[in-house]
Amino acid sequence: MTTNIKTKIKGTGFYLPKQIRHNKDLEKMIDTNDEWIFERTGIRERRICSTEGGEWPADMAHNATLEALKNANLEPNDIDLILFASVTPDYKLPNSATILQTSLGITNNCGCLDIAAACSGFVYGLNLANGMIKTGANKNILVVASEMLSREVDWSDRGSCILFGDGCAVAIVGANDKDDDSSEILASYLGADGTGREFFDQPIGGSVNPMTIENLEKGDHYMQMRGREMFKVATRTLAKNAKRMLEAADMTYEDIDWFIPHQANVRIIETTAKLLKINLDKVVINIEKYGNTSAGTIPIAFHEAILDGRINRGDIVLFDTFGAGLTTGATLLRY
Ligand code: UT7
Repeated sequence: MTTNIKTKIKGTGFYLPKQIRHNKDLEKMIDTNDEWIFERTGIRERRICSTEGGEWPADMAHNATLEALKNANLEPNDIDLILFASVTPDYKLPNSATILQTSLGITNNCGCLDIAAACSGFVYGLNLANGMIKTGANKNILVVASEMLSREVDWSDRGSCILFGDGCAVAIVGANDKDDDSSEILASYLGADGTGREFFDQPIGGSVNPMTIENLEKGDHYMQMRGREMFKVATRTLAKNAKRMLEAADMTYEDIDWFIPHQANVRIIETTAKLLKINLDKVVINIEKYGNTSAGTIPIAFHEAILDGRINRGDIVLFDTFGAGLTTGATLLRY
């Protein structure tokens, strides 16, 4: 079924864990230093969830959703689908979306789905939500990205642990039925190349290689990343996605008000912006404060730029991402 329904981001929110882990703190844990990390990645500090409770992925999502509901002027029961992107869900079962449904007091039995698309998870969720809204199947979809990577990172591996942090952001998307409101998702893309799976994986803990005392003791169960390979894939992929979006919407780089790429490394962001000839003034970068929060980076940066007044209604915004899998995706929208 095709309709003329426009999809609009009605409200956003975020939650950032209270504990800040500065590069200087990492100096006490591994052989590294603040200068190296900042120069090579653009990161100074990241947030770390409490392990005492209150900041589990679904908890962060709960707080972020309350903010988004307020901004969208909606009630919890207005939500008719929850898409929860995370590589670090609260449990294996049940999914985090159902935990969030309950904690928000949603009683309409809305569908609840977790999305495992690594750093591309939010863009995957947003683009899937766009499709559901456009068919008329749903009215208000809550798209969540909530990550507690600090649990899955090997804090003795200086090649990876310096990059990651915890955090959450959400967006509520729904139909825009007003003729005088131009907010709309203009183009979207989802992709993946499974042949690059070994560049970033976590092979222990699933059905093939269940967790054993031996691999727990050896620390084999943590995320494993080949940084240099990921770096190369990232710039190529982001630039390709951006071109694809502009072609689909018949736009040029000058039309973009804000470019929000996945925040994995500031050098990846700068190289991509250069390739695309997008001025860095138009790029939302907050990696210095939060590091790489996987699916969280794009919606956190988006909400932050709305809050501080950079992004306004009517602005053309491009989300562009890549991650383990290797997954990728992009969304071009008029906010
Ligand atoms: O969400 C997406 C997934 N992740 C990514 O996209 C990550 C993309 N990759 C990166 O961001 C970068 O590759 C890293 C930041 C991970 C690494 O930076 P690099 O410039 O590629 O460094 P490198 O791995 O080539 O290492 C250069 C040197 C090595 O020393 P030698 O062999 O030249 O003596 C490393 O041992 O830097 C050393 N090194 C460090 N030194 C201090 C590696 N990590 C550190 C560290 N502190 N934390």
